[in-house]
Amino acid sequence: MTATDSPVRDPNRFVPERAQEAGGSMHAGPIQARTRQLPRRLQRVLRSRVVDLATTPHGVDHYLSMVNPLWSLDRTRALLVDRIRETHDVTTLVLDPGPAWGPHEAGQHVRTQVDIDGRRRTRYFTISSSPRRADGLITLTVKAGDDAFVSRFLQTHARPGLVLEISEPRGEFVLPSPLPDHLLFIGGGSGITPLMSMTRTLLADGYRGRITFLNYVKTPADRIFAAELDRIDAHHDRVTLVTVCSEEDGDPDTLCGYLEQGHLDQVAPDWREAPAYVCGPPPMLDAAEAIWEEAGALDRFHIERFTLAAPSADVNAEGCVKLADSDIELANDGRPLLVQAEEAGLEPEYGCRMGICKTCTTRKVKGVTQSLTTGEVSSDDDQDIQICVNVALGDVELAL
Ligand code: FES
Repeated sequence: MTATDSPVRDPNRFVPERAQEAGGSMHAGPIQARTRQLPRRLQRVLRSRVVDLATTPHGVDHYLSMVNPLWSLDRTRALLVDRIRETHDVTTLVLDPGPAWGPHEAGQHVRTQVDIDGRRRTRYFTISSSPRRADGLITLTVKAGDDAFVSRFLQTHARPGLVLEISEPRGEFVLPSPLPDHLLFIGGGSGITPLMSMTRTLLADGYRGRITFLNYVKTPADRIFAAELDRIDAHHDRVTLVTVCSEEDGDPDTLCGYLEQGHLDQVAPDWREAPAYVCGPPPMLDAAEAIWEEAGALDRFHIERFTLAAPSADVNAEGCVKLADSDIELANDGRPLLVQAEEAGLEPEYGCRMGICKTCTTRKVKGVTQSLTTGEVSSDDDQDIQICVNVALGDVELAL
């Protein structure tokens, strides 16, 4: 079988209705391909100093979006063209990112911004589609968790015609080069999405090695991409797909429970030798890291975390966050400083968002911050901190 990157169509697939305003940025009708990209000659004019001055303080993009919500000089605006219901709480959004979109690498994610009730909201989603898709579309697979405002909005209200702003693809959770003979993928819940992008890509490229894929779900009904995974399992001898349910289903042949070394020994006895890619909820990632550490195989272990530890209850979420270079002051809401800066409209550089890569390192001019990953407190003035994992304890000033 030729691996397909097209999400499985089923009776639950959303059927476009009359585009309804649901609080987001919504275009009322079909957007023709010819209007998708801003004409080059017009771009040159709009980048001129005269136009810049004339459109201050809102900027050129503000006025462009009034003419065509997909037009922007500097940003990627993606048009929602379809949505597919995967499970009761997971939906795949099919997006047209336009001709300026550079191909992503399987496993990468994008920052997604959408206007909801007049406020810009930000959330990060892995791209679940393969960069090998011939139609140029990308998919984001969204789980509507109770704590995820944007995800819930997108799952409940997003309709074809919605325009989302997305960043360049980012992240280092990508396939190795050169490819090894065996790859081990372990996905928990919606953490399957980057692994699905990788699997689709490997199969589209005719990968000749083995893929062992453990998919941890609560019940069989919670399997995302279920029909496509079953087709892959049935048609590719070198792909071993194992679903592990945390709730027993009564079948003695089915693995159940949470990730443990016994599962790996049973499914892929040579698991220590294969590069492993793991994405899922924090307890699963912690368990996986402990297994690979115990095995002395951390050099072959790759994880993608999208959830930081929550600020501890005694974190003081009072005070002001001053972004000095931008002349912005915010009421501190206790979230990581990177998130607060982004919601204020800034675009600080970042990579892992987990305190690892140091891309987001920013000078803290004054104030006290605490790292969510190490608990370390920084109280001296003029210190460099990783704003992706640091929260403010009271008034803080950053050179941003
Ligand atoms: S983005 Fe990597 S350390 Fe902050």
